[in-house]
Amino acid sequence: MSENNRGRGGFSDRGGRGGSRGRGGSDRGFGNPRGGFDRSRGGGGDRRGGGGDRRGGGGDRRGGPRGGRGGSRGGSFRGGSKVSVEPHKFPGVFVGHSKTDTLLTLNMVPGKSVYNEKLITVDGPNGPIEYRDWNPYRSKIGSTLICGIRKFGIAPGASVLYLGAASGTTVSHVSDIVGPNGRVYAVEFSHRVGRELVNLAKSRPNIVPIIEDARHPQKYRMLVPMVDYMFADVAQPDQARIFVLNAEFFLKNNGGYMLCIKASCVDSKLDPQKIYEQQKQEIVDAGFACEEVSEIEEYHRGHACIIGIYRPTQ
Ligand SMILES: C[S@@+](CC[C@H](N)C(=O)[O-])C[C@H]1O[C@@H](n2cnc3c(N)ncnc32)[C@H](O)[C@@H]1O
Repeated sequence: MSENNRGRGGFSDRGGRGGSRGRGGSDRGFGNPRGGFDRSRGGGGDRRGGGGDRRGGGGDRRGGPRGGRGGSRGGSFRGGSKVSVEPHKFPGVFVGHSKTDTLLTLNMVPGKSVYNEKLITVDGPNGPIEYRDWNPYRSKIGSTLICGIRKFGIAPGASVLYLGAASGTTVSHVSDIVGPNGRVYAVEFSHRVGRELVNLAKSRPNIVPIIEDARHPQKYRMLVPMVDYMFADVAQPDQARIFVLNAEFFLKNNGGYMLCIKASCVDSKLDPQKIYEQQKQEIVDAGFACEEVSEIEEYHRGHACIIGIYRPTQ
């Protein structure tokens, strides 16, 4: 697999200041002496969160470093340790520097945490700005950013079709990134977790929750326009087929995509590398140009994300 991300640095190639921060020598460039992301946070935690830190609820939350390359601003985690924030190379994503580096998004609903993630507030020119900590152990998209992908098509103002939304952990970060001018059409077929998704959408007007089976896109075609980007994380044996079907309905030509592959769903006995290759071929045959395969093994065992552009021939 020539275009995969094994051994390629990740966080060190962010925008802003450029270059690795030189703390610790991880090829992930995450500034953690153990090499990479702060593992002490693990994948646990209470998904329901709810309350959150109310500091920084007011002010102009968009007045900060978004889009700019300027200096970082000081703030603090809920726990009290000092943190400074600067833009990631991908618009709408930020990096917090504290004892360890963390991935952040600008909180669209200041004062509210979604899955009990930490909130941090920094001073902006027009008042406090609040960010949400993005845990890569809880999010495949988050882990691809840390593992160092070359391109990321989810940006402010984008419309995104998200298949396999669950309760909305990652959807909430996508909602932060696309902001008030973007939309996230979030499809989830489980009514149990779908309830949490619907609740999330009540406070985030840019999320359109769709409680349907992604195998039947015709059932929600009245709700979803042609989108700029498609992400899928349904963890099903026919994940590639579901993905192709939805792209044929909703993804613009030359739109970006990320397809998350859970190898064990396809075949638990086969080498995951072979499965990634097989699934990649399946979508390439359907008109998807593959630009890279991001292996996120470090954060999600037996998973990889295929990334590229949709180029159907007809
Ligand atoms: C691995 S979880 C997704 C986690 C989520 N992407 C996140 O990062 O927070 C997979 C989700 O896909 C949903 N799912 C599986 N098959 C589906 C289908 N055919 N249509 C819609 N949702 C599906 C499951 O119910 C489950 O919530």
